[in-house]
Amino acid sequence: MSDEIILGDENPNGSNPTRNPSLADIIHTPTSRRGLMRGALGLAAMHFFAGRAFAGVAARVGAAAQDSNGILSEATDAVVSRLGFTQIAPNSDDAVTVPAGYRVQVIVPWGTPLWSNVPAFQEDASNTAADQERQVGFNHDGMHFFPIHGGQAGNRRGLLVVNHEYTDANQIYSAAQGSTITNDAAGREKVQKALAGHGVSVIEIRRDNHGNWSHVVDSPFNRRVTGNTPVHFSGPVPKNHPMLQSNITGAPRGTLNNCAHGVTPWGTYLACEENWNGYFGTDDPTWTPTPLEARYGVSRSGFGYNWHRAEPRFDLAVNRNELNHFGWCVEINPLDPQSTPVKRTALGRFKHEGATCTESRGRVVVYSGDDENGDYFYKYVSNRPWRQHRARNESPLDHGVLYVAQFDANGSGRWIPLVHGQGALTVANGWVDQADVLLRTRMAADAVGATRLHRPEWVTVEEQTGFVYLTLTNGSGNGAPVNSNRDPNPYGHIVRFRETRGDHTETDFQWEVFLLAGDSAYDPAVPANQAIFGSPDGVWSDNDGILWIQTDISNSSQNRADRGYDNIGNNMMLACDPRNGDLRRFLVGPRGCEITGVCMTPDMRTMFCNVQHPGESTTFWNNQAGGAPTVQNPTRVSSWPFGSGRRPRPATLVITRIDGGKIGQ
Ligand code: FEO
Ligand code: CA
Ligand code: CA
Ligand code: CA
Repeated sequence: MSDEIILGDENPNGSNPTRNPSLADIIHTPTSRRGLMRGALGLAAMHFFAGRAFAGVAARVGAAAQDSNGILSEATDAVVSRLGFTQIAPNSDDAVTVPAGYRVQVIVPWGTPLWSNVPAFQEDASNTAADQERQVGFNHDGMHFFPIHGGQAGNRRGLLVVNHEYTDANQIYSAAQGSTITNDAAGREKVQKALAGHGVSVIEIRRDNHGNWSHVVDSPFNRRVTGNTPVHFSGPVPKNHPMLQSNITGAPRGTLNNCAHGVTPWGTYLACEENWNGYFGTDDPTWTPTPLEARYGVSRSGFGYNWHRAEPRFDLAVNRNELNHFGWCVEINPLDPQSTPVKRTALGRFKHEGATCTESRGRVVVYSGDDENGDYFYKYVSNRPWRQHRARNESPLDHGVLYVAQFDANGSGRWIPLVHGQGALTVANGWVDQADVLLRTRMAADAVGATRLHRPEWVTVEEQTGFVYLTLTNGSGNGAPVNSNRDPNPYGHIVRFRETRGDHTETDFQWEVFLLAGDSAYDPAVPANQAIFGSPDGVWSDNDGILWIQTDISNSSQNRADRGYDNIGNNMMLACDPRNGDLRRFLVGPRGCEITGVCMTPDMRTMFCNVQHPGESTTFWNNQAGGAPTVQNPTRVSSWPFGSGRRPRPATLVITRIDGGKIGQ
């Protein structure tokens, strides 16, 4: 068994055995008009629909961008860009860089105590699991700012709700502890500390009269949800379902690998469970995965965390059903610290990147990518307007239809329902009931012919136009050149689509490639004048429709010339005005990090953005330092944010304009 840990979402191989068409196949189908696309922003991309004139600009600004024939259309580059900053250059500094005129503050780094009776963060990582249960978690990811009050007060005080995706054994343990998980009390303490570093933090934050933000110690809203917090199950897979019965832990608890997130129209937060399979393993050589487990990438070695060696909860040979507690979206009410998080099973079980909510005709719609190479893109639509569900004292997330996307070569696509008894999902085909369909969501999507994608990550809805943007971070294989003749597709791209009439409850859509990431020095398909970047992951359309794009280049490729990533430098965030394709680099992160999670106060004058895994083992920097980071030497790649050889710590950035204006404009 390998003791190497695969960190985060650097899972190189998918687990989709089907021959379902991939988006790459479709793009390269000779009859596809997409095959003509240069894939880049700007006029080349805009001329995607050959022979169709694009609409006049002025009349289009702010209007729904769909012409009378239901084809996507877009303003041209005649629109003056709404971006108001000078883009920064790529760099490989161990620092956060932002444009002139902006200010950055670091708040709530990993280990920040949320209550006054909690021990301070220890620079040698000697804080206990019990400390970590009451300190800010590790590896900040998806995030939202919930104002506590309306009006101006909402721009000065609120709840920052932050996902903590995973922990790094080289950073969270002391040199004395070491990183190895042993089958004894010391090993159990280490697994417990890791579990406590996962989950979600709810943190009250405030701005003072000098414009400085800080967390509120002992706020009644402060809360940690961890890998140990009791949780409920709701929807078609109830908590008494046989596949949820653990023989170790009793009632289900915990949420793990919370990547991106969602915010419901009724003001709750959705934390999504992504690479949960990696935490499970076994040393029992007789254990073999079922087809369902194999489809979710479950294996004896997992990702090398080896938690099973100290905690039978994670031993596949001892406690098989514990697996089924994960792969869901978890609803948390940040305003009620006593509430129990609820796993909403109607949204399906897969590697949820995020759960982006919008609404049409009063119904809540949730878009969610399954981030694995060759996996699928889903949406959920509530049966009734969400207010009606709530008036009936039922959750809009428990009563609805889950769909999976199928993309056609001609620029159209459709949503296929994953409903028991419909299509291939019949008893005759071995589908027992809707709970079975949801527990085996990936296999149900296989059966209905969903389209394989290159790692679908974040989704955002441009509410002004109805466009939905989906990042496909990178990928390879699927038997065809990928996207503008790239296979492997090391830089990724962004697809956008629009549902019929802009109604998110519809089952047909039109789609196009919006933006092809990369560096023209290595890939002539990328326009030479486009801001270089790679592996888009986070994407968020702000209240004015500016698109924020965040990157997560894997640490095995970051900064490396032999991977075509040397010019791009460290991970970054860019802003894009989708009306004219203006794309500018706004922020570059420190070494070894990814940039993820972005939101603003309602007045759009304070932005929050996360730096995840600074200082993580990164091939390029390991080679410079003569080795990978270890518990004895965790600073080989980075000392961000506090420098001077101090331990790297994931943290949240607060970004403001010195003149107090809207961010990015
Ligand atoms: Fe956790 Fe797919 O990024
Ligand atoms: Ca990542
Ligand atoms: Ca992500
Ligand atoms: Ca990612």
